[in-house]
Amino acid sequence: MSHAPRKIVFNVPSLMPDDGARRRTDAATPRPAPASPVPPARERTGIPVEDGDVRKLATVLEVSQALAGTLNLQTGLYGVLEVLERRCGARRGAVTLIEEASGLLVVEAALGYPRTAGRVRYRVGEGITGGVAQRGTPAVVPHLTEEPEFLHRAVPRGERQDEGDMSFLCVPILMEGSSAGTLAVEMPFMPEWDSERMIKVLRISAALISQAVRIHRLIEGERQRLVEENTQLREELRERYEFSNIVGNSGPMRQVYEQVAQVVGTGATVMIRGESGTGKELIAHALHHHSPRAGKPFVRVNCAALPETLVETELFGHERGAFTGAQARRKGKFEAADGGTLFLDEIGELSPSTQAKLLRVLQERELERVGGNDTIRVDVRMITATNKDLEKALAEGTFREDLYYRLNVFTIHVPPLRERKSDVLLLADYFVEKYARLHQRAIKRISTPAIDMLMAYHWPGNVRELENTIERAVLVADGDVIHGHHLSPTLQTAEASGTVVSRSLAEAVGVFESNLIQDALKSTRGNRAKAARLLDTTERILSYKVRRYGIDPHRFRG
Ligand SMILES: Nc1ncnc2c1ncn2[C@@H]1O[C@H](COP(=O)(O)OP(=O)(O)OP(=O)(O)O)[C@@H](O)[C@H]1O
Ligand SMILES: [Mg+2]
Repeated sequence: MSHAPRKIVFNVPSLMPDDGARRRTDAATPRPAPASPVPPARERTGIPVEDGDVRKLATVLEVSQALAGTLNLQTGLYGVLEVLERRCGARRGAVTLIEEASGLLVVEAALGYPRTAGRVRYRVGEGITGGVAQRGTPAVVPHLTEEPEFLHRAVPRGERQDEGDMSFLCVPILMEGSSAGTLAVEMPFMPEWDSERMIKVLRISAALISQAVRIHRLIEGERQRLVEENTQLREELRERYEFSNIVGNSGPMRQVYEQVAQVVGTGATVMIRGESGTGKELIAHALHHHSPRAGKPFVRVNCAALPETLVETELFGHERGAFTGAQARRKGKFEAADGGTLFLDEIGELSPSTQAKLLRVLQERELERVGGNDTIRVDVRMITATNKDLEKALAEGTFREDLYYRLNVFTIHVPPLRERKSDVLLLADYFVEKYARLHQRAIKRISTPAIDMLMAYHWPGNVRELENTIERAVLVADGDVIHGHHLSPTLQTAEASGTVVSRSLAEAVGVFESNLIQDALKSTRGNRAKAARLLDTTERILSYKVRRYGIDPHRFRG
């Protein structure tokens, strides 16, 4: 053994593994390495003798299969090391990668090493491994126990006593022209063995590892981005359905909040009743987003929007081939909501046959997909909503009584807007801010006459109608104030708003003038002299018009 070189370093041009491999013998022992592979060496490794190139290809193929066969990078790396051990006679193998945060070479996978090897770190340039990463060229250490640069970090010297003379071969893992890590193996020293062959196999393996690492990092980066985006979206959703976003502090709404607070932490089935546009869906969202199921899905099914033939597959899913066109298996909304909340909106619209099937799922908490025999257990919290008179439907026999009692465990009645007039202004201000921001309008306030019109109206479409009215007004307003004439025509009727329909020019001008005066008085807190100056008129004329239009300046003092 003493006749062999102590250390050989290959200075191979980085990206060309099969080309230009020149040997540089160490100055201290200027002895050339053995020339070509010698059969006895193969026999000593115990590996079946095959034609050299075929064997090399087979190894490379297995390496690529090991990396391609898994989505987990580490598993892939272990697979590569295992192939090198099995096919090439490596006793140990390790892959290091440069850690982005520290810039250190960190062991990602190590086979045949003590467990502690996983904690080993090298600085780039440090020892043999660090040197390979720095130079981007392979290194071969024929006798690692004799090599002064060998750090013995992964296997302490003392643990090598019984293992004989070992060689160490290390190649860089190159990525975009620079080192991203190293691939190294230890094998029993063989005097006449051509390490160049093994270096070639290692270099090709390293190139495959490099590809796998790149893909893994791309996927990991994308996954991370998606996780962040998801967290942010969840946060946005939570904020959107925060109680603070349910506007209104009238007595009836406070009662609603109390009821919500009573059931929010429980898994109780809730039925939300109320006229169209009162905010039932908003409350259903709040119930979910403040419940222990908040991290799980909230799935809404609009029962009114589905034809009867589709409701069943929509709710329970279907198996492949369950009906013409069912080309793939599809999960239903119940399964999609597993662990979370299923919100059945417009429950009053369900057909009798769907009611029967729904009842079964609610009773047994399990279902079968359409066309399937497997029983699927689901854990779903049910929230339903309707603006229908269900009791009347019960009496008429169009809604099942047993289903009604299953769903009607805890009921929240959302009052119509006309019964909580004190919320109208709060909601109007909230929507002005929301839509001014959305449409980038500098709307600051609603004029007093416009407020009067909003207050006088009976809001048959409830909050939704108010929201639409304000959005429209924000869009049509030309200045920074929403005036009466910016509100929708339905509010302009004498009956609704108390203002007279402008039948003549004089009347229309009168309404407009009255609005302007009230606005000016509001800005000056009822001070007539200042209001007159604002409108570029005299106090005398202003007082005259105030009397004529029956405006009470005192109401603006507060
Ligand atoms: N208290 C509230 N605070 C803020 N926005 C509200 C409030 N109530 C309702 N809204 C808004 O009004 C609109 C209608 O509310 P929602 O869809 O919840 O009504 P709904 O009761 O489900 O009506 P429908 O019976 O017609 O489905 C939504 O845009 C909602 O954000
Ligand atoms: Mg709704």
